[in-house]
Amino acid sequence: EPIKCCFSPRYQIHTGLQHSIIRPSQPSCLPAHMDTLPQRLREAGYSTHMVGKWHLGFYRKACLPTRKGFDSFFGSLTGSVDYYSYGSCDGPGVCGYDLHEDEGVAWGQEGKYSTTLFTQRARKILETHDPTERPLFLLLSLQAVHTPLQPPKSYIYPYRDMANVARRKYAAMVSTVDEAVRNVTYALRKLGYYRNSVIIYSTDNGAQPFTGGSNWPLRGRKGTYWEGGVRGVAFVHSPLLRRRRRVSKALLHISDWFPTLVGLAGGNISQVS
Ligand SMILES: *[C@@H]1O[C@H](CO)[C@@H](O)[C@H](O)[C@H]1NC(C)=O
Repeated sequence: EPIKCCFSPRYQIHTGLQHSIIRPSQPSCLPAHMDTLPQRLREAGYSTHMVGKWHLGFYRKACLPTRKGFDSFFGSLTGSVDYYSYGSCDGPGVCGYDLHEDEGVAWGQEGKYSTTLFTQRARKILETHDPTERPLFLLLSLQAVHTPLQPPKSYIYPYRDMANVARRKYAAMVSTVDEAVRNVTYALRKLGYYRNSVIIYSTDNGAQPFTGGSNWPLRGRKGTYWEGGVRGVAFVHSPLLRRRRRVSKALLHISDWFPTLVGLAGGNISQVS
């Protein structure tokens, strides 16, 4: 059944965050009155967990993922975090350790590669949760592929002939993401979720050609309003889909996820402003 009409999702411009990123020292975050996807899914009976990059503000507790609808959080609150040390800087010398668990600091993870660490955490959530008891919403927001370009050495080998060093590293990091997707899908199958799952894979914006990315044949890059900046790649995979193996050319906007997914979960899709 297609989701029935008449809900107009909210454009992100209404969050008041239509500027560049939230810098670590900037006192800014999602407005308090806007319900998030996990809040609505939780109301609909879901357990909600987030692993990975948040970057929607943290300057006070009310901004944290655990106050925005997630039962648990494990990941980073800022952007461009180091994949191994979890160091994050807001200019020279203004640096800190940014790996967090719920509302505290997750010390002692230095040296563990973030794509692998976050994927392991996702697996742990799948192992601990009982899908026969409650449905689960898991948001795995990997840092990859983003600067700093830090692939583990072993992933570079297949791309060793690429002349452009940034592109070579970038390709290797994409391979770690591919592997993460494989591992999570495998865990979903092994732990009894898969047949009743909807897997959504999506980028958050276009690539950055200055650091190994490419949006060819589209013009522009992340941070611009050309298609190369705002037209992202995504796919939906689910054994529940009736028309599978289909390429959709329809325009899907990021604001469609909220009503589509809350509707699918049987939740409340009305807008509270
Ligand atoms: C995927 O799983 C394999 C086998 O457990 C592990 O060696 C690898 O590090 C995992 N990769 C990621 C990206 O989590």
